[in-house]
Amino acid sequence: MQRPPAEVRHADELARLRDTDTGERPPGWALSLTAARRFIVGDPAAEISRKFVGDPSLIDRALVSLATSRGLMLVGEPGTAKSLLSELLAAAVSGESTLTVQGGAATTEDQIKYSWNYALLVAEGPSQRSLVRAPLLRGMAEGKVVRFEEITRCPLEVQDCLLSPLSDRVLAIPELTGADSMVFARDGFNVIATANTRDRGVNEMSAALKRRFNFETVFPIADFDTELSLVEAEAGALLRRSGVTAAPRRDVLEVLVTTFRELRTGQTARGDTMERLSAVMSTAEAVSVAHAVGLRGWFLRREPGTAEDLVSCLAGTAAKDNGDDLAKLRRYLEQQVTWRSGAQWKALHAARHQLPG
Ligand SMILES: Nc1ncnc2c1ncn2[C@@H]1O[C@H](COP(=O)(O)OP(=O)(O)OP(=O)(O)O)[C@@H](O)[C@H]1O
Ligand SMILES: [Mg+2]
Repeated sequence: MQRPPAEVRHADELARLRDTDTGERPPGWALSLTAARRFIVGDPAAEISRKFVGDPSLIDRALVSLATSRGLMLVGEPGTAKSLLSELLAAAVSGESTLTVQGGAATTEDQIKYSWNYALLVAEGPSQRSLVRAPLLRGMAEGKVVRFEEITRCPLEVQDCLLSPLSDRVLAIPELTGADSMVFARDGFNVIATANTRDRGVNEMSAALKRRFNFETVFPIADFDTELSLVEAEAGALLRRSGVTAAPRRDVLEVLVTTFRELRTGQTARGDTMERLSAVMSTAEAVSVAHAVGLRGWFLRREPGTAEDLVSCLAGTAAKDNGDDLAKLRRYLEQQVTWRSGAQWKALHAARHQLPG
């Protein structure tokens, strides 16, 4: 598996937390709030790794929201680990994070609620056997957390099919009769939706649906050293999985993370203001560029990647939809890199001609 779900990746930690959990559990939860929080923010004493870097009070608020009858909406810039956090929350609360709907322009109610196995439907009519349960129906029937990724990318009328599951905790299946025609949510059911602030304007949410969610904003990592350690750990793990045995160089990662932060904020380390890129320069992008740098170094030359590899890899991140970004990146490499000391900064400057175009 390229990327097993959180409950599989961290199965041993979840099992240990479950065995030692003495806290009160909300009805239908696999862990208590305190154990769920330790699973996400880590607990060195119990050898639980830190999986999400950020304000622990955000995790508390998110967990409390999930224990109420309102859904949890995680909003923020792209690449701030909203999806990762929703996966971790679902794994902690329900022991399962795969009841997931991926929102998009073509998402339909069928993919959220339920659909039919047409061969069986034709042969024997609507029945429990011919019903194909989608994540929302399963989450309600089994009392589990359902994840709704990128909800604002769905058409409004499709989003609104969450209204009665969230407020009345019931889903009607009018095709079935009797008790089967209503699915009542069991304890433990709730919804975690994510939306990023860049796509949001495309398809707003209805006010009625907004009222059924608690909104929490996930911010980019503020501290340089914290972001650097995260990029180092995540890129290191990705590289090992790609068969690269050389760990990424710390000095190259320092240059990489500094570059990302400066292009993201429009402010250099010595306080100059400069042009920001319109492309997303998130921590998630930094991790994937660090991975690519390591791959280039290893598979082309059998060594850890250098700042020169960074130039080639940056272009693919920076120049996505806006030609100006490449020009801004070139100016950055020309003007903002020369005054710094260190071999990798010099190499970055020297390699600036490798930018395409
Ligand atoms: N605060 C953070 N804690 C842990 N990992 C982070 C953090 N910020 C970024 N990351 C990195 O980013 C990756 C997760 O990005 P994820 O896809 O969850 O972001 P997202 O906010 O859902 O982005 P998008 O809006 O593009 O969907 C993680 O795997 C991790 O490497
Ligand atoms: Mg996401």
